[in-house]
Formats: sequence, structure tokens, C-alpha cells
Amino acid sequence: FIKYDNLKDVNKLVFVSNRLPFTIVKRKGSFHLQPSAGGLATGLSSFYKAYQAIWVGWSGVAKEKIKGSEREKFEKRLKAENCYPVFLSQSDIENFYHGFCNKTIWPLFHYFPLYTVHSKRLWEAYKRVNEIFCDEVAKVAQEDDIIWIHDYHLMLLPQFLRDRFPEATIAFFLHIPFPSFEIFRLLPWRREILRGLLGADLIGFHTYDYVRHFLESASSLIGCEHSFGHITAENRVIRVDAFPMGIDYQRFARAAKNPKVKQEIQRIRHIVKTRNMVLSVDRLDYTKGIPQRLEAFDLFLEKNPKYKEKITLVLVAVPSRTNVEQYKLLKAELDELVGKINGKHGTIGWIPVWYLYRCLSFTSLVALYNIADVALITPLRDGMNLIAKEFIASKMDDRGVLILSEMAGAAKELGEAIIINPNNKERIVNALKEALEMKEEEQIERNKIMRRRLQRYNVVRWANDFMDRLSYVKKIQQELLVR
Ligand code: G6P
Repeated sequence: FIKYDNLKDVNKLVFVSNRLPFTIVKRKGSFHLQPSAGGLATGLSSFYKAYQAIWVGWSGVAKEKIKGSEREKFEKRLKAENCYPVFLSQSDIENFYHGFCNKTIWPLFHYFPLYTVHSKRLWEAYKRVNEIFCDEVAKVAQEDDIIWIHDYHLMLLPQFLRDRFPEATIAFFLHIPFPSFEIFRLLPWRREILRGLLGADLIGFHTYDYVRHFLESASSLIGCEHSFGHITAENRVIRVDAFPMGIDYQRFARAAKNPKVKQEIQRIRHIVKTRNMVLSVDRLDYTKGIPQRLEAFDLFLEKNPKYKEKITLVLVAVPSRTNVEQYKLLKAELDELVGKINGKHGTIGWIPVWYLYRCLSFTSLVALYNIADVALITPLRDGMNLIAKEFIASKMDDRGVLILSEMAGAAKELGEAIIINPNNKERIVNALKEALEMKEEEQIERNKIMRRRLQRYNVVRWANDFMDRLSYVKKIQQELLVR
């Protein structure tokens, strides 16, 4: 299970990401630990313990709000999970997390330049918080550890750590798209970001397109020469490569047999009585194309009246970044749109869209994956999208159809799904009809192929490949030094 070929057994693995797998949240006046949402936390949390890794990340709460013995209590609980929380001030959370991360990098890297805020104040906070993370990592890591930094919040950290530990093994993986050069160049601090990333020995992305975009930016903006995915910068060879992230396949495949899940399936079937169920699950985020999806469902019902009272769209939107204006606006838009569609098509006894604005338990989520005839996953832009993979992995009988946006990284691996352009409403309508009317043998044939692929290239294999490539680049660096 654990193998890092060529890396010494004594190397400890240190994960660093903005989110820990658990977030401290305040509910009904007191603090609780809650599993974090989103691809990174759900994807990595299933195996970091098996790697005996420790994890450094933000606690989720402002340091002004949790103090003294209460903070110590949570530090202790998190430490028992091998997690080391970073406490940020309220103003750093505002300017770094809600600010530069989610008002600058997130929209720009997802091709929303009009939503992107360029502010020096937010940039300064980004630098400062990356320095804070550097200090925190330095407290728990040693020079011969392997430091694996994750995602767009910490793109300056590789170089900050390199300055402090010149010989360290540092890797970086970006969980969101790396945009094309024409988009990336819009960022005033584009060179600083590139130089920050180049502090790593290995830089990983989900797809080859993102690798290509990164290499083009590095050569156009800072003149880095590259050949076959190797960059030479400051006398170091750096590897840039694609590693499409997998899921914990067995966890989803096994869940269908779990008595609790079976019970939940019965319960939901008893409530949602229509013949067909279409499922949509995302964090509530403008990159996910949720309004476009709802409009397509509206048009589908208009064009296919025979499906009225026979179909339900279960729309799960997990609350996310609720302090950021664009997310508030989107929430209001969705509330209105769902109301409009239900008012327009609904009848006594039939609600076309079941709208759940909350985080679901694993049991309910897997039960929904199992029942759904169709998963409608239509992001406008998505680094990978693990929901698409989880849906297929959960389908033990291989029935069900995945409709997937070509703008999601996952579309590169799940070519047997019905692939659509999320901006083409008519195409989504046709895809829905095609999915609902697809012969069972064809569903099974398509899903079997995808399931086998997901089973083979699961999250452990993904991490092992990443580690192998990291040890390979360290070896090349050593050989070059000897010469
Ligand atoms: C995406 C990002 C993750 C992030 C997650 C949830 O999947 O790639 O880094 O953790 O969204 O967003 P949040 O802002 O709640 O951490």
C-alpha cells in the first residue's frame, strides 16, 4: 500500500493545504469539528493516514474567536488525527481566503476574468499567509521530509520553503485548472506566482492541457526553457506532469452493500416516487453551471411533457464561501430559479426539483448515487470533478447514465459518458432524453469500462505515481550534481 520507490523509509510525508480534512465550525453557539467539503479534502482524507502523513492546514476559524483552553482542546483532537491547524486572524481570512484566493485566483483560473478582483491589499495578504504557512510547516517538518503542498491557496509556499530548506523534497499539486496563457497573463502578480511554484521539485496538474498551459506561461513570462516536461530553473531540474486524481474506489463500490445505505435507499425511494431520478451534486459555486443546468431541465420538461410527474431532479448544493458576494448572488438566483420551475411545472403531489442546500452524509450521498438514473454534471469549468467518478464507482449494477461537461478535467478519462458543452442548453436537453431512453445493455457496457478504469487508477495509485515521479526527479537532480 505504501511505497515510495527510491525515497528513504525514514522520509516523513507532510501534506500542506489550506483546508484540513476537518474544519472547526460554530454551530448553536459552540465549536465542532466537521469533515471538510470539496474535492481536495474528500479525495485525500481517505488515505493520508495510511501514508502516515501529517497534515498542516487552516483550522477554519479566526484566531480571535477561539482562544485558550478551547483552542488547545481542538488542537489536541486534531493532533490525534495527525492534523496541525494554522490559526489565521479575521483580517487574514478576509483578505487571503475570501480575498486573493476566492476573489482573484479562483475566478481567473476558472475563466471568469470579469469576476476577478485585482487588489494589492489582497495580494499582500496572500504573501503574508503563505509566509505564515511556511513558519508552521517549519515547526513540524525536517529537511529530509517530503513536503507535498496542495492547491491554489499556497502557490508561493514552494519557493518560501526552498529558501529555508534548500535541499528539501518539495512537491506541489494544483487541484483546479491551470488556465491558458492568455488568461493567466491578466494577473498582475503572474511572475511571482510562477516563481513561487518553481520552488518545487515536482509540479502536478490533473490534465496535460493544464501542464501545457503552465509550461507556456513559464516560458513566455519568465523565459524558462523546457523539454519533455522538464524545466531547468536556478540550476535545478523541475518536473511538470499530469496526474489525474482518482477516488477511493472501494469505499464507494462497497458502500452499496452497506445495510445503512440499503435502508437509506428504501427510505428515499419511498419518498421520491417518480419513475426517474436525475441527480445533481456540487458545492454551490458559479463555476458549476447550476443555473444553466436548471434552465436545461426546464426546457426538457417543456419539450417532453410525457415526463411530467414521472421525473425528479434532486439538486444538492453544498454551502460554500458564503461570505463572497458572487456566491451570495448565485444562491439568490438559484432559490428563485428553483421556485420558478417548480411553480411552472409542479402539480399537487409532484415537485419537479428537490432542492437541498446542505452538506449530505456519506450514507445519503451514496444512496442517491445508487438510485439516480442519470447524473447531470455540467460545470462551466472544473479542474477534475470527483462527483462524476463517485457516481460511476457507486453503481454496482452498472445501470445509470452520466452526463458530463467537456469542461471538467474528468471528461478526459470518462469518454464513455454523454459528453456535453454546458453552454449548449439544447444539447443538454437532448442528452437528458438520450440518457433516460438509453437501453440497459448500453448503460452497462459504458459503465463497466469506466468502472474498471476508476478501479485501476484510484487515489492510492495516483499518489503512488506522484511519489514515484518525485523520487525520479530527485534522482536526476543528484546525478546532475555528481556530474
Ligand atoms: C475546491 C478546491 C479545494 C477546496 C474546495 C472547497 O475543491 O480545489 O482546495 O478546499 O474547493 O472549498 P473551500 O473554500 O471550502 O475550501
